[in-house]
Amino acid sequence: MLVDTYGRVATDLRVSLTDRCNLRCTYCMPEEGLRWLAKPELLTDDEIVRLVRIAVTDLGITEVRFTGGEPLLRPGLAGIVGRCAALTPRPRLSLTTNGIGLARTAAALRAAGLDRVNVSLDTLRPEVFRTLTRRDRHRDVLDGLDAARAAGLTPVKVNAVLMPGINDDEAPALLAWAVERGYELRFIEQMPLDAQHGWKRDGMITAGDILASLRTRFDLTPEDRDDRGSAPAERWTVDGGPHRVGVIASVTRPFCAACDRTRLTADGQVRTCLFAREETDLRAALRSGRPDEEIAGIWRHAMLGKKAGSGLDDPAFRQPERPMSAIGG
Ligand code: GTP
Ligand code: 5AD
Ligand code: SF4
Repeated sequence: MLVDTYGRVATDLRVSLTDRCNLRCTYCMPEEGLRWLAKPELLTDDEIVRLVRIAVTDLGITEVRFTGGEPLLRPGLAGIVGRCAALTPRPRLSLTTNGIGLARTAAALRAAGLDRVNVSLDTLRPEVFRTLTRRDRHRDVLDGLDAARAAGLTPVKVNAVLMPGINDDEAPALLAWAVERGYELRFIEQMPLDAQHGWKRDGMITAGDILASLRTRFDLTPEDRDDRGSAPAERWTVDGGPHRVGVIASVTRPFCAACDRTRLTADGQVRTCLFAREETDLRAALRSGRPDEEIAGIWRHAMLGKKAGSGLDDPAFRQPERPMSAIGG
């Protein structure tokens, strides 16, 4: 088991497969991109599968989420998914993606054993998409979503970040659109994890703002607390159900006390939290020939350094060195 000093047990592993991305969302990275990890720094497919195997067989991980950067940019993705799906016990497998390329790959990923996807989409307006992501790929994302649903990668969840003056008027329209298509929409509060370090607390759209905006058009009923478990999203049923909407309010309503996560970066570092300041180098352990038991032991030890929370409310809060795209959102 992966237990921290606060008694939280990590059963959910988030694996970043690459730090690269084919979009340039303004709340994430600059136009010119970032200094990407070099190939030799990345874990190989074999190294990733080995670490997932150790996590599942020795450490009690039951859920594995592949993230990035943009994980569909990883050439070996379907192979990695297939090999993880063959593990015993079989973990649940999901992917968080910007949706570009999903139209081509959804069926193969499903066949390989992927269970479901979360797709990021912040706007229904192509021109706003272009401003927000600095790329003209809105259609690709919509096609990717359709393909994911058709392939049975369900429930399909859609993640939206609202930015003041850009798309903060779109919450009700996004929800109407998601309800019509059977996607579960979640709004995410913007977090201080951007590469430009430009986040300001008073410049973000809060869960309170989002709910007020949705309530102008929908009747929202809070879901039972017991149904939430350790999920970051608080959920509401829409107009009496069955559709739901979620809000991931990491800033104004943190859920750290129920956190069940551990993370692996694309270069093989364990992070105990999105906001952690320390990392533990599993790649070095792998590449120096350590046996599985020792790697499991290093991972268990790393979890003992997990902090109680993100520290966002601490006046001395400092953003982690790595931006979101290199941590694996
Ligand atoms: P499911 O609901 O199980 O599908 O997963 P999820 O919502 O956790 O995953 P997803 O990858 O879609 O992430 C949605 C948002 O939640 C992203 O902005 C993540 O950065 C954020 N998030 C994911 N894990 C954590 C976490 O441990 N802490 C915080 N504060 N935010 C997280
Ligand atoms: N704050 C909140 N969410 C973010 N994402 C990327 N950067 C941030 C940030 N700074 C979102 C993406 C994607 C999810 C994985 O994280 O839009 O939906
Ligand atoms: Fe877990 Fe850290 Fe996220 Fe809190 S901020 S929920 S401790 S990963």
